[in-house]
Amino acid sequence: MRKEFKTIAESQVTISELMLPSHSNFNGKIHGGYVLSLLDQIAFACASKHSEVYCVTASVDTVDFLNPIEIGELVTMKASVNFVGSSSMLIGIRVEAENIQTGKVKHCNSSYFTMVAKDSDGKSIKVPGLILKTSDDIRRFAKSIKRYDNKKMRRQEFHETDFVSEEHLHIVETYNVKIEQ
Ligand SMILES: CC(C)(COP(=O)(O)OP(=O)(O)OC[C@H]1O[C@@H](n2cnc3c(N)ncnc32)[C@H](O)[C@@H]1OP(=O)(O)O)[C@@H](O)C(=O)NCCC(=O)NCCS
Repeated sequence: MRKEFKTIAESQVTISELMLPSHSNFNGKIHGGYVLSLLDQIAFACASKHSEVYCVTASVDTVDFLNPIEIGELVTMKASVNFVGSSSMLIGIRVEAENIQTGKVKHCNSSYFTMVAKDSDGKSIKVPGLILKTSDDIRRFAKSIKRYDNKKMRRQEFHETDFVSEEHLHIVETYNVKIEQ
């Protein structure tokens, strides 16, 4: 029987992987797309642990690549549930890369994935609530409420069925465009 509320610690996931030459781009740095694929995997694992059902990636928010990752570095990703809505979970992921010779660690990436829990018929289902224990837990949850609300608003804004282009022309025209309607 699934719990009604779960702690953040119960679904935290950490993975470490050595970066191989096959993961690099033409510059000899690790390919952003490869990092994204690892991020998606860890977000899936974390969301599935919290919800105890199959989850899908609904959206990927602010993937900030802060520092490049070099071949031979040991990458560690830590994922936790920062927020839960009804069926959605916002997973925060921190990526660090360690030079295994010197031990120097750099923060390379922070990102937020929205994962949605699904039942066996593919319908979105309610996930357990979150038990917040520390002021950091509360800070991350409060910050995520903003992200969740903004995201909902953005999905409704500029919908093609009720968008009137004339109302936006005066703004669009101030950018690097030529309107040829
Ligand atoms: C994203 C998806 C699950 C939304 O399902 P839906 O039934 O249309 O959406 P609903 O309106 O019922 O919303 C379900 C939840 O998803 C959230 N959601 C929906 N679209 C979202 C988006 N683009 N970004 C973030 N959250 C989103 C809603 O806020 C809602 O959260 P809540 O229950 O916590 O309030 C659905 O569109 C889907 O399955 N997409 C494909 C996912 C996929 O295949 N991912 C892998 C890509 S290769």
